[in-house]
Amino acid sequence: MRPSSSLSQISRATAKVIARASLLPLLCLLAPQPPLLASPAALAGAPGAAAPTTITYDNATRTFRLDGGGVTYIFGINERNELQSLYWGHRLAPADRIPAAHFAKEHASFDASNTTTPQEFAGWGAELYVEPALKITFADGNRDLVLHYISHTIAANTLTIVLRDISRDLFVTLRYSMDSDTGILGRSATIENRTQAGLTIEQAAAASWNLPRGTDYTMHYLSGRWAGESALHSQLIQPGKTVIESRRGSTGHQNNPWFAINRGPATEQSGDVWFGALAWSGSWSITLEQDQLQQIRVTGGFNPFDFSYPLSPGQKLETPVFYAGYSSEGMGEASRLLHRFELAQIIPHAPNQLPRPRPVLYNSWEATEFNVDEAGQTALAEKAASLGVERFVMDDGWFGQRKDDHAGLGDWYVNPQKFPNGLAPLIKKVHSLGMDFGLWFEPEMVNPDSDLYRKHPDWVIHFEGRPETQARNQLVLNLAMPEVRAYVFGFLDKTLTDYDIAFVKWDYNRNWSEPGWSATKLEDQKTLPVAYIHNLYSILAELRAKHPKVEFESCSGGGGRIDLGILGLTEEVWTSDNTDPFDRLLIQDGFTHAYTPGVMMAWVTDSSTTGRNHRNFSTAYRFLSSMQGGLGIGSNLNKWTPDDFATAKHMVAEYKTIRETVQHGSLYRLISPQGGSEYSATQSVSRDRKQSVAFAFLHSSQMGYPAPRLYLQGLDPNAVYRTHIIHGSLSKDTPESASGAFWMSHGIDIDLQGDYDAAGIVFQQQ
Ligand code: GLA
Repeated sequence: MRPSSSLSQISRATAKVIARASLLPLLCLLAPQPPLLASPAALAGAPGAAAPTTITYDNATRTFRLDGGGVTYIFGINERNELQSLYWGHRLAPADRIPAAHFAKEHASFDASNTTTPQEFAGWGAELYVEPALKITFADGNRDLVLHYISHTIAANTLTIVLRDISRDLFVTLRYSMDSDTGILGRSATIENRTQAGLTIEQAAAASWNLPRGTDYTMHYLSGRWAGESALHSQLIQPGKTVIESRRGSTGHQNNPWFAINRGPATEQSGDVWFGALAWSGSWSITLEQDQLQQIRVTGGFNPFDFSYPLSPGQKLETPVFYAGYSSEGMGEASRLLHRFELAQIIPHAPNQLPRPRPVLYNSWEATEFNVDEAGQTALAEKAASLGVERFVMDDGWFGQRKDDHAGLGDWYVNPQKFPNGLAPLIKKVHSLGMDFGLWFEPEMVNPDSDLYRKHPDWVIHFEGRPETQARNQLVLNLAMPEVRAYVFGFLDKTLTDYDIAFVKWDYNRNWSEPGWSATKLEDQKTLPVAYIHNLYSILAELRAKHPKVEFESCSGGGGRIDLGILGLTEEVWTSDNTDPFDRLLIQDGFTHAYTPGVMMAWVTDSSTTGRNHRNFSTAYRFLSSMQGGLGIGSNLNKWTPDDFATAKHMVAEYKTIRETVQHGSLYRLISPQGGSEYSATQSVSRDRKQSVAFAFLHSSQMGYPAPRLYLQGLDPNAVYRTHIIHGSLSKDTPESASGAFWMSHGIDIDLQGDYDAAGIVFQQQ
């Protein structure tokens, strides 16, 4: 657990775990994963310090109560000594009492009470048919697990509860930490074998969340694919189960470990919403179910598919953390709570500060692909600097014998033909232009055409004697192997030591196949999904400790590895390889349901004008789409016209004046681009409410209708805000300045016409 919000302390703490873990071929100790919560201290610029979280235990009713932000969470110990959920929702009055927990009456012989009782963390045993949190096979073949309360401790914002099986020394320690600002609760479990014999964990969740019984719930989740991430889906929760998951070894593009559930007619601005996100970058699953008595449960953690985790006597396994929260003000507020929480508690930052704002970045990939060399990169760097770019990133192609995607991955030496003098001259040049330097790696991969694979063919994930399926001509290194971990850490550490590098783009361009690990004992081979991710996290944590100024981006062919686990160790993520600025509006809308725009990198590119969808956008439109996150440019600047340069210079300068508001402020999704909407609009409000910025987009005009009026949100109603137009035009009667109340209640008419039109308007308090 992170002992405080200090980055160096986090890294030191994690580094100790790494030192211990890397000695062991099989990781079954505490995971070097993000903490439940950092220090509850208020952040600089945050509106008012939140009252501390309170955690109480009522001896009379045997109930635990956590109050933080606008949320109360209550559960109790019932007559059977099981932990039973009682209440999760809007904050209650301090004097409110919830009746003690009583296990449900037997509904029928087919629906026994331990299935119908909403348990906090149910072992698979007795008569349990709903999704268990934990399933175990003991050495003698017994698979009955019934967990009872033993003891608890309360310290600051964390409640720790110890459970034990009714007859065996299998212990589970549950942790609950509530964020005082947002009321978001982090839950995780440590499973410990204190018996005299080995046992095997077959399924382990971080937590089960129970919602009030009902049939009018709608679930929301994100799905997608490469270049089509973060598609938002909503469906009525019906009897039965819906599982969102990844079986791919990494988070995946196809589902993201985030959910939201609303009751009744919740909208963007109103209604009850429960939401959660799992901090895990390996195979995961979240099961959302409505049981036969209409109880809604959400259970999430390691994916139990092809999973088996032996624990010898004395060994433990720690689950990932499952964070969840509640909003009484609709989906919009649910996201804003998550964004605030991520910025304060998850994303790396110095003590009591917000994460560093994302610099304006240039990336060479879409301009040059693999054809990088010193002269070409220098020419791009000079042009990028003239636009006001602050970080120059050289992407794929600089290492080994990398000419295309057939060779080179795994050989992390600077290619001597492309860079005869190493990287130092280019880096020096980039610095002299006033930018810092970033470099692309894909550390976990190897091409069969590489020196590394020729030397260590056994280092890849594979089954002995079986074909090794290649994807993008590459295989996945088995990071769980100590020698692979040492190799990967070694070349990254060396490159960051040899060169003045400010930023690493950490890519990961395929999923697992044939997930064998023959170098380890047979019974340990299915621990790979956990051991691999522990080593991934530990490498990142150790690099961060040793190179504290280096920032990291998580990329996996775009958005294939975005989750609260990796975000504890990286400053930003690459949202999607799809840089079409209209498609991006949808992707970004889905993304912001789960993740803050403060980590959402968005580039202006040329492929967006000609590529994927074969259509054209103005330079201004492309910028406005990207300015809603961390702005980057990925165009081939050698082909830009003077007009492009002039527009880009203007946009970059404007962006720098609003980026704190966009990245760290409150996001309001004013008009959703979902469902084929012709229009969409977002608005961000700075933490002190002194500045706001609205972005509005039109797909194509129909029937001559004017654009819908925008009603701003979150402004100070009594303050006066003056408009400043980044790009676009307002209806001619619009006042130059007016009160927050005016902009929110009267609204503003923005002129949007034709095809792919866009506007950006700043509202500045006077
Ligand atoms: C992935 C990334 C791209 C780029 C290429 C390089 O597709 O998402 O941004 O870095 O790899 O090969």
